[in-house]
Amino acid sequence: MKCRIIAVLGTRPEAIKLAVVIDQFRRRSQEFEIAVIHTGQHRTMLDHALQLFQIKPDFDLDVMRPNQTLSSLTARVLDTVENACLRFRPDMVLVQGDTTTAFASALAAYYSKAPVAHVEAGLRSRDIYNPFPEEVNRRLVSAMSEIHFAPTASARDNLLAEGVPSDRIVVTGNTVVDTLRALGELSHSWENTPLAAVPADACRLVLVTSHRRESWGADQERMCLALKDLVKKHSDIRVIYPVHMNPNVRQTVEALLHGTERIHLTEPLDYITFVSLLQRCFLVLTDSGGIQEEAPTFRKPVLVLRKVTERPEASQFGMAKIIGMTREAIVAEADRLLSDGDAYIDMSQGDNPYGDGHGSERIVEAVARWHRKLTPLLEPDKEFKLPPRPQPRRRRTDVPTSVAKAAAGRE
Ligand code: UD1
Ligand code: UDP
Repeated sequence: MKCRIIAVLGTRPEAIKLAVVIDQFRRRSQEFEIAVIHTGQHRTMLDHALQLFQIKPDFDLDVMRPNQTLSSLTARVLDTVENACLRFRPDMVLVQGDTTTAFASALAAYYSKAPVAHVEAGLRSRDIYNPFPEEVNRRLVSAMSEIHFAPTASARDNLLAEGVPSDRIVVTGNTVVDTLRALGELSHSWENTPLAAVPADACRLVLVTSHRRESWGADQERMCLALKDLVKKHSDIRVIYPVHMNPNVRQTVEALLHGTERIHLTEPLDYITFVSLLQRCFLVLTDSGGIQEEAPTFRKPVLVLRKVTERPEASQFGMAKIIGMTREAIVAEADRLLSDGDAYIDMSQGDNPYGDGHGSERIVEAVARWHRKLTPLLEPDKEFKLPPRPQPRRRRTDVPTSVAKAAAGRE
């Protein structure tokens, strides 16, 4: 008997991170029958990605409403996904990440007695309002999951600390790294994209995105003012800011930044165009989870526009820095990287600590073994291991103390 899988996606990052997993299941069509549910939590922003990865959903639930509230969205997803589960009768329901789609779909699967597998499990900020509501969504999915696909060892450790049995956790690497690998070398032209309007001059490109609910209003305003300060101070930069479709984000960004010289506000970019911008930019300022995980593949320093992150690896590797949302901190940290070559080089070395491009294979193999009731779900030596940490470069101030003292004439 084939193993019947439902994969649920609803937002842009879920499509980008699950497309490769769905593809792996399809490659093993002797063992698996897979149906894709698109809740429709996002419409335009997700349809871009579905086209690129040639995913045709089997169920399109069309739940998005302009400026939707969390409660109404949750209720619509819960109701419609439960119906789809009852019709398809899956052996397992796969959800990804921390969105309302992931949480409400896991609950719907649980109500219909289908086991849940959680991709990107175990990330924790330990602050239920940062990110809001994603931290709680992710924890609630853990409570309902049969298998936890933790991207990294630290995510696994978070789950173990909460009492999840170790034989239910597999460390996979984040599947977004598989997605980037699948795209291969890009030499994508910006003609006929929203970036065509950006002059091709010698300016360095600063890529900015922000959309988190906890930053709406005052924080978002401060961030916009900081961007204005930066272009004023550095005549050789251009800020490129693809603005999220959420009307709460758009209002502030457009009111404060529209028409500012060398700040380019664009519509959300299709994924290939976005990745090619990530490749060509100098620096990234973002509150996005996915972009924090992608930027290290291209060795682009990331200033994280948040108070905390549930993705600590890049900052532990020195490739990202959590700087919050004050105007002063954003200007000071970006200014440092734009002006100090050593500081910049220190943040742009090392391998991506989030994944090695084989996450989706590990996930599908573990589901196959689970279906055949084999243990362990994956041999430990096949799990994802962190690459070596980049070594800090030696500076004059790093010379051993005895040498430094001698040089200073004190020994
Ligand atoms: C959601 C996720 C967030 C994720 C983000 C990725 C939740 C609670 N939040 O936030 O974790 O980081 O997606 O982008 O699940 N809209 C459109 N067209 C689109 C998409 C959105 O018009 O294609 C507008 C609509 O007015 C919609 C609003 O944006 O009501 C908000 O969308 P929603 O999915 O509720 O929240 P996001 O802020 O996108
Ligand atoms: N992304 C994109 N176009 C854009 C901005 C982002 O394709 O204009 C991609 C980005 O590469 C990443 C994902 O969308 O893979 C992140 O989505 P978002 O920041 O909306 O959500 P988060 O990752 O914070 O949940």
